[in-house]
Amino acid sequence: MLLISDPYILSSRLLEFKKKGRKISFIPTMGNLHKGHLKLIREGKKENFITLLSIFVNPLQFNDINDYKNYPRTLEQDKKLAFKEGIDILFNPNDHFILKKKKSFKLGDISKKLCGSFRKGHFEGVSAVVIEFLNLINPDLILLGEKDFQQTIVIKKIIKNLDFKVKVKMIPTVRDKNDVALSSRNKLLGADSSLAVLIPKTLNQMIREIKNGNFKFSRIDELKSNLIDNGIQKVDYLEILKEKDLNFPDSQFDFCRVFISAKINGIRLIDNMRLNKKVKISNEKFFVERN
Ligand code: PAJ
Repeated sequence: MLLISDPYILSSRLLEFKKKGRKISFIPTMGNLHKGHLKLIREGKKENFITLLSIFVNPLQFNDINDYKNYPRTLEQDKKLAFKEGIDILFNPNDHFILKKKKSFKLGDISKKLCGSFRKGHFEGVSAVVIEFLNLINPDLILLGEKDFQQTIVIKKIIKNLDFKVKVKMIPTVRDKNDVALSSRNKLLGADSSLAVLIPKTLNQMIREIKNGNFKFSRIDELKSNLIDNGIQKVDYLEILKEKDLNFPDSQFDFCRVFISAKINGIRLIDNMRLNKKVKISNEKFFVERN
């Protein structure tokens, strides 16, 4: 495994591989690798491509300095895991990688919804680092997680609008035995970690109720209150949105997802799940397409 932190060195090594006709799979991460990240790596390894894993805690995408400072950094452990997984190149740049070169990109509406409205500048920060990575690496494939569904849509939009020639593979969310989506932030929950199960439980319950019919808009507020009553500190959002554009469902049937962001013990967790039937809204009530 090559360990590289200098972008110029990375660029010249990639050129050597590309000259030999090798293709590149790229897995961007902020480190503290868990089984979710490993799933992305393993999917990337399925092609006979050079696998490039980046580990970079991007300061531009944090709107809260404490969240940035407390973000778990476990580079030595991550290096061992990456080596074990057969990563070809581990790229771990330092902060200079991004600080001087903030590329601006008009993200439009999609970046203002859900996480975008609660974390000002978050997606602009993600897009700045992703554009930097894509320009430098020019990969053939990028592996992204469904866990951060909105981020995946934003990155797809960047790729399309800036005409990068890279295929996107979205990998299903890896969950623990209690259905909690794996996240580097889970280990910051401390004594309140058992509350995290309420997140997937609520999403599953909503999906079940929508499929059973009779799910009204007002039910969302009840579910939010239940979460608070059961010890969740804050629910930033709990929404059902169309997966193609994150707009509210309307009178046309469309595939939708339920999205949640909730705070436990000061730690913000997100999750989402897909409704595998199309839904529409009429008179404030959800209807599932029957076929
Ligand atoms: P990070 O949170 O480290 O996540 C890196 C990748 O792993 C993302 O594509 C994310 O969606 C995916 N991932 C995280 N948890 C997962 C899980 N439980 N199951 C499946 N995939 C999961 O997302 C970022 O870093 C950053 O914003 C980044 C894209 C690297 C830009 O800085």
